[in-house]
Amino acid sequence: MTQDEAKALVGKRAADMVEDGMRVGLGTGTTSVQFIKALGARVQAGLKIRCVASSDSSEELGRSLGMDVVSLEELPELDLYIDGADEVAPGLALIKGGGGALLREKIVSSAAKRFIVVVDESKIVPHLGKFPLPVEIVKMARPLVERRLTELGLNPVLRQKKDGSGPYLTDENNFILDCHAGEIIDPGAVAAEIRAIVGVVEHGLFLGRAEFAMIAGEDGVRELHG
Ligand code: 5RP
Repeated sequence: MTQDEAKALVGKRAADMVEDGMRVGLGTGTTSVQFIKALGARVQAGLKIRCVASSDSSEELGRSLGMDVVSLEELPELDLYIDGADEVAPGLALIKGGGGALLREKIVSSAAKRFIVVVDESKIVPHLGKFPLPVEIVKMARPLVERRLTELGLNPVLRQKKDGSGPYLTDENNFILDCHAGEIIDPGAVAAEIRAIVGVVEHGLFLGRAEFAMIAGEDGVRELHG
């Protein structure tokens, strides 16, 4: 099974969990795209749901598939949030934000009663940190935040747009510093240190948030509970 096939499989399986009348949070990234497409197909077949998206791109995709995607103001409580992750470590400690949507993802996930992670086997790691940890920051605070993250040994690098036309900007118009931290032994402590820096808006450590992970691999989809 290719990685794309695994993403499509787990995305569809997650879409099958959605029931009529649910309020659903839409994640961001290539695995979430598969989830949204599968859910969109169910909506086209008659499923009645309302959604809140964690990025402009997921909102556009959902709407293009005929889904009712509204703001958190209209729908502040959600039944279920489905999203991918860049790394999943024991205890369901996650790194998210490879797609740049970590802030809205954390906000929308916090509005949901249940948060289920959808990944392929490649995302399962013994400890976090091989994937650079994204930290979303206010633009003017960059020199100060960069210096402090460097002092913490987290090796921040300003994320650039893929076309090389300048720094990447999030949907909230902030910068992202990707921290090449190496092995993160104590994610809770690192999260607290980053959060204490003035100018940091959010970081990509999602700790104690997910109920379980759905993991697609050669043998189908398995569940990993924290
Ligand atoms: C976006 C995210 C994604 O969920 C994460 O990057 C995984 O993406 P993909 O499913 O494309 O591997 O956090 O900000």
